[in-house]
Amino acid sequence: MNILGIETSCDETSASVLSGGRVCSNVVSSQRCHTSFGGVVPELASREHERLIASIVDAAITEANIRKNELDVIAATAGPGLIGAVMVGLCFAQGLAYALRLPFVPVNHIEAHMFSPFIDEGSADAAPEGPFVSLTVSGGHTLLSVIESDLSYEVIGRTLDDAAGEAFDKTGKMLGLDYPAGPVIDRLAKGGDPLFHEFPRAMTSRSQTSKNYRGNFDFSFSGLKTSVLTWLKKQSPEFIELHMPDITASIQRAIVSVLVEKTIAAAESRNIKAISIAGGVSANSALRKEMQAACDRYGFLLYLPSAIYSTDNAAMIATLAHLKLSRGMKAEHRYNIAPYASFASKG
Ligand code: KG4
Ligand code: ZN
Repeated sequence: MNILGIETSCDETSASVLSGGRVCSNVVSSQRCHTSFGGVVPELASREHERLIASIVDAAITEANIRKNELDVIAATAGPGLIGAVMVGLCFAQGLAYALRLPFVPVNHIEAHMFSPFIDEGSADAAPEGPFVSLTVSGGHTLLSVIESDLSYEVIGRTLDDAAGEAFDKTGKMLGLDYPAGPVIDRLAKGGDPLFHEFPRAMTSRSQTSKNYRGNFDFSFSGLKTSVLTWLKKQSPEFIELHMPDITASIQRAIVSVLVEKTIAAAESRNIKAISIAGGVSANSALRKEMQAACDRYGFLLYLPSAIYSTDNAAMIATLAHLKLSRGMKAEHRYNIAPYASFASKG
């Protein structure tokens, strides 16, 4: 079965072809027009998607070495995301499905991230037998979930305010770094001292009694943002410039340690032996290293997506469509746009 996946939920225009569950192409174009605005400008994103979508889809089909009439299914992100951006990919995908008389599969973007650690093995069928704890950390979401083998899942924790990616991007903006600041902080922090300054870690065992902590897997990053801003205001520009690696390493440590602590606590409390991390922030080198070290310590298996499948991509959209179809889910011929895209979570 050849599946064409399309992703346009934010600032990446992407198309991918999956053949028998294996990725044959994954073309991703990242929009650069937002850099000077310090965040994604929704209208600009929609226009860029519109400009590029046809050529990106053509490139994915050509790279997979097939013709359009060899496609069997078309899948696209149906949300959550920027409404205009989602609409471009979703309408294009449905138009193509209609023209080629193909079934269409709407895919929830966050659910697709959750299964991205298993793409590398050829298909997400490589997911562990039995439940695993998934930490999904992107620019818009921070979710802890328990995922079952039948793809059903229960969300056991989420951010009460900012997402982990937002915490990177917004504190980076305070330091004058370009959007998205996450990868820049990751790079700068490599030369810095993470113990240089202790920024707060909300809702962890450090800030709550261990009695309250158990069972609370929610996150909060807005306090960190305020703390960084207040602290920076007290420092001179020269000091900030001189200590940029140390400051970024300290901010990164505050974010990463919360993510690792909560994920490990969730796996322990549910007696689950496998953990996966996904979403743009899962590309962070400190998070990967710290989570691996913690998993080694506790004897948990860790599943990580390769860097290209951490950030937004269409291979994860096509992969989730493949997984759902192979488990008996029916494709559709029409689907209404739902940019708010509620989760199919049972939690
Ligand atoms: O999953 P994604 O590509 O898009 C959303 O669905 O939001 O995630 C984008 C987020 C941005 O906040 C970006 O700064 C962050 O992922 N990010 C990183 C790294 N690479 C991307 N954060 C920290 N370290 C990285 N290496
Ligand atoms: Zn995403």
